[in-house]
Amino acid sequence: MAGLLSLDGVTKSFGGVTAVKGLSLSVDEGEIVGIIGPNGAGKTTVFNLIAGIYKPNAGRIIFQGTLINGKNPFQICKLGIARTFQTVRPFPKMTAIDNVIVGALFGRARISSPSSSREYCEKILQVVGLYQKRDRLARELTLAEQRKLELARALATRPQLLMLDELMAGLTSAEISEELEIIRMLRAEHKITVMLIEHVMRAVMQICERVIVLDHGVRIAEGTPAQIASDPLVIKAYMGERIKTGNKPEETTSADQESEASES
Ligand SMILES: Nc1ncnc2c1ncn2[C@@H]1O[C@H](COP(=O)(O)OP(=O)(O)O)[C@@H](O)[C@H]1O
Ligand SMILES: [Mg+2]
Repeated sequence: MAGLLSLDGVTKSFGGVTAVKGLSLSVDEGEIVGIIGPNGAGKTTVFNLIAGIYKPNAGRIIFQGTLINGKNPFQICKLGIARTFQTVRPFPKMTAIDNVIVGALFGRARISSPSSSREYCEKILQVVGLYQKRDRLARELTLAEQRKLELARALATRPQLLMLDELMAGLTSAEISEELEIIRMLRAEHKITVMLIEHVMRAVMQICERVIVLDHGVRIAEGTPAQIASDPLVIKAYMGERIKTGNKPEETTSADQESEASES
């Protein structure tokens, strides 16, 4: 499979803090790649760099052969990269469908007016299982529904690469299973490549073919979920946070929810 995205020696500092240090990685078309690591490891910063929210201090980011560092978020979105945010941020007083329409107008879908995009956005709400709630105000939706709305907004831009930042945090085990189903379907039916930052290890273990582990802005490990789960460096980085293998899914959610609550 062809390389879709690559980072080559990417560094990003904020004042005295180097959030990402000389990071190189690549993602092939059609992959589902997990990015894990302790809080503050630099995971979200990697997404922000790829999405053009921050510009790297050094290094190169190449998407489909095009150097994208230096491009703004709007240009990068038009090239086919979309992301969700760790903290849900729909427009609370707009309906679900209107939130998605805003996403569609922003992205590379060939849609120029809100009226022509309504039908298109209804289909996307069907894809994520929110069609029945399309006329609800975003603020009336549950957390799981708001996450789906966030996903729908990203999808409305017709991404080739979708970056999900802790999409599953705080969700129940059943809701996580639903999200995993949606991600599988997006790859199978819509040929979308997925990068996901996730603390819910069951989700990472079940869905990722490859996992990249960051700690203090550096890649400390990379491999299959099984390789990662038994890597001493990874276990050390988490300092006692248990890496779960997904054998006992019912044990995974509550601790993961707590780790999310203390973040962002
Ligand atoms: N906009 C910012 N300004 C200053 N420091 C930041 C900013 N964004 C991230 N950081 C710092 O960079 C480091 C990595 O943060 P982040 O990428 O959010 O980590 P993660 O998503 O892995 O928890 C942290 O030390 C964080 O405080
Ligand atoms: Mg983060």
